[in-house]
Amino acid sequence: MTVAVALDAPDDFEGWRDAARRLLMAGVSPDMASWRVKGDAGDLFADGDALPDPAPGAPVPRVSAKFLQLAKSALLHTEIERFSLLYGLLFRLQDNPRLMDDATDPAVRRIEQLARTVRRDIHKMRAFVRFREVVEPDGSERFVSWFEPEHHILRANASFFVRRFTQMHWSILTPQGAIHWDGTTLCEGPPARKEDAPAGDPVEALWGKYYASIFNPARLKVGAMLKEMPRKYWKNMPEAALIPGLVAGAQAREARMIEAGASATPGELQPETLEVVAKAIQACRRCPIGCNGTRAVAGEGPKSAVLMIVGEQPGDHEEQQGRPFIGPAGQLLRSHLNDTEIDLNGTYVTNAVKHFKFSPRGKARLHQTPTAGEIDHCRWWLESERALVRPRLVVALGASAARGLLGKTVSVQKERGQPRLLEDGSELWITTHPSYLLRLQDEARSVEEQRFADDLRRVSERRTDLTR
Ligand code: URA
Repeated sequence: MTVAVALDAPDDFEGWRDAARRLLMAGVSPDMASWRVKGDAGDLFADGDALPDPAPGAPVPRVSAKFLQLAKSALLHTEIERFSLLYGLLFRLQDNPRLMDDATDPAVRRIEQLARTVRRDIHKMRAFVRFREVVEPDGSERFVSWFEPEHHILRANASFFVRRFTQMHWSILTPQGAIHWDGTTLCEGPPARKEDAPAGDPVEALWGKYYASIFNPARLKVGAMLKEMPRKYWKNMPEAALIPGLVAGAQAREARMIEAGASATPGELQPETLEVVAKAIQACRRCPIGCNGTRAVAGEGPKSAVLMIVGEQPGDHEEQQGRPFIGPAGQLLRSHLNDTEIDLNGTYVTNAVKHFKFSPRGKARLHQTPTAGEIDHCRWWLESERALVRPRLVVALGASAARGLLGKTVSVQKERGQPRLLEDGSELWITTHPSYLLRLQDEARSVEEQRFADDLRRVSERRTDLTR
């Protein structure tokens, strides 16, 4: 007999996962399970069947992290068959745990494709939501946006907008539902119509200015741009009207951009990729360290890193090899990260200052601490990296790194142990620099290393919480 499963909502991943687990343990094959969403058009029955009890001695279902990750995205697709496709794959995974690695399997490929489409829709929403300002009856301001997602991504995207616009009161209205944020609480509302959102207002001028400033002429490829920003989104995007003019002025702006990166003139054109940052810092002459003829060292790590670790500046080894944290301090850092199970390959590692400041002593080059002014000049680059990577956790190793992140000097000893919220919603954890630990001896060294390990453990736990 077929078991009918009714999920609470089209994006009800937890409901699907619980039901799938129960079905597996009861030995229900994919063709004997039917899936639907409560209240969907044509759904005459509010509830599904009671889920069957597990067969005696049934093994606990196995599921790989890769499957779970894909399933979470694929389930948000509007494809009606997605629940049963996922259950079918999960069912087969029980006998073939390596199935997810089989890139030729049609079901694996289909789920991967659904997940990709959903991730793209999520990205589009993040890029193309445009707020208009309205004044509420009590005189307060609220920013309201109308957006038409293709898939069921509204809830999945909510925390991104909360982090990005924490201080604002805002609403995002869509044909599938609405989300509202009042600075502390997120709540949901019913489906909306385009007319429910306000039409153009002065915020559009702001978006236009913002867009004009982030528009990167160096990467101008009209075909690629249209692919990234399909015309169907243009109608809700006031800045779209600026595109023809920006394209026309692109070459002149490209020249200005290179100048802005190299000079101390605060340029409004921030690099658009980490690769551009890595190239542009080589030409940076914003402060005296940039003029000392050394090689600048760029950050390293995945663009999707949840955690960013910021040191002070590259040292002798780092400058020679062009990579951050590969000398003695880097080795100590790596061994502590290893102990706390922070995966360095999944972490973005960089420095507050991109060039090596030193004084020559014979053949040796002795480290010199950068001044506050030098750190401040280099903030432009660090902020570009943060804006591109958008880590949720940032660790500052030592006072220079903390200044690079905060723009002011703070006491490491007073700050360590608890996080500070940065303006983009990420958390900053400040601790000591491993070079400081290397200079200590005996008892003092073991006490301070323990404190350093404790700080990293807190970060590691927080990282687990945030990515759970
Ligand atoms: N110290 C730092 O702060 N950064 C490095 O990259 C190496 C040593």
